[in-house]
Amino acid sequence: MRKLALPSIHTGDLILVNRNVPVVGEPEGLTDLGNGVLLAQPAAQALAALLEAVNAGSSVTPVSGWRSQQEQTEIFDQSLRDSGRAFTEQYVAVPGHSEHQTGLAIDLGLTLPEIDFIRPAFPYSGICQQVRQQAPAFGFIERYPAGKEAITGISHEPWHFRYVGVPHAILMTQRGWTLEEYHQAVKGYPLGGPGLLCQTQGRQYSIYYIEADAAGGLALEAGVDCYLSGDNEGGLVLTTWKEA
Ligand code: DAL
Ligand code: ZN
Repeated sequence: MRKLALPSIHTGDLILVNRNVPVVGEPEGLTDLGNGVLLAQPAAQALAALLEAVNAGSSVTPVSGWRSQQEQTEIFDQSLRDSGRAFTEQYVAVPGHSEHQTGLAIDLGLTLPEIDFIRPAFPYSGICQQVRQQAPAFGFIERYPAGKEAITGISHEPWHFRYVGVPHAILMTQRGWTLEEYHQAVKGYPLGGPGLLCQTQGRQYSIYYIEADAAGGLALEAGVDCYLSGDNEGGLVLTTWKEA
């Protein structure tokens, strides 16, 4: 057995950020996508691989990635002035509550002469739809789908993708779960039980929930690969895998 170092519940690919759950801290290791837009390194690498896989070339533009608290505040205030409160609350997260502040969210736009910064065009057709369809295999979910507004607290945003990693993005997409619903589901698979299982990309994954105050002495069998992420609420999600 080997003992695992436990991360903060506020870091990792699966952290939930929404109007009820604030961002805690600043991301480390931001990477420039090439046009001044920054993302956390694993998300940046996965996005580059996704765009390459569909031969997106220059037809897709990364419009907005990591935002500081100050930037999110400026965007929010500008939107209030330009478009009013109702619009702003639909499409711009309250500063301190934006996924963009984690470095794990990216707004993608179809490359056009003019790209709307708040609501870039990213249609359900052509190259954009190819990106959307391949996104889960590279760890991205469409974060604010139509019909889930009451759960996410944000209107339908076809352009906003969130990196959560594989297999989580695949599971969420297959089951039609938002990140909020996924966290609820994972809580039903405490460590010690059978885990939430997913076989994909040649691996057998098992996913478990660990309450933060119960996480003191986590030990895993030698030879099992694993990844631990905080949920940004009260616990951690453990993902283990073996070659299938
Ligand atoms: N547009 C998303 C909700 C944000 O501002 O974080
Ligand atoms: Zn966004």
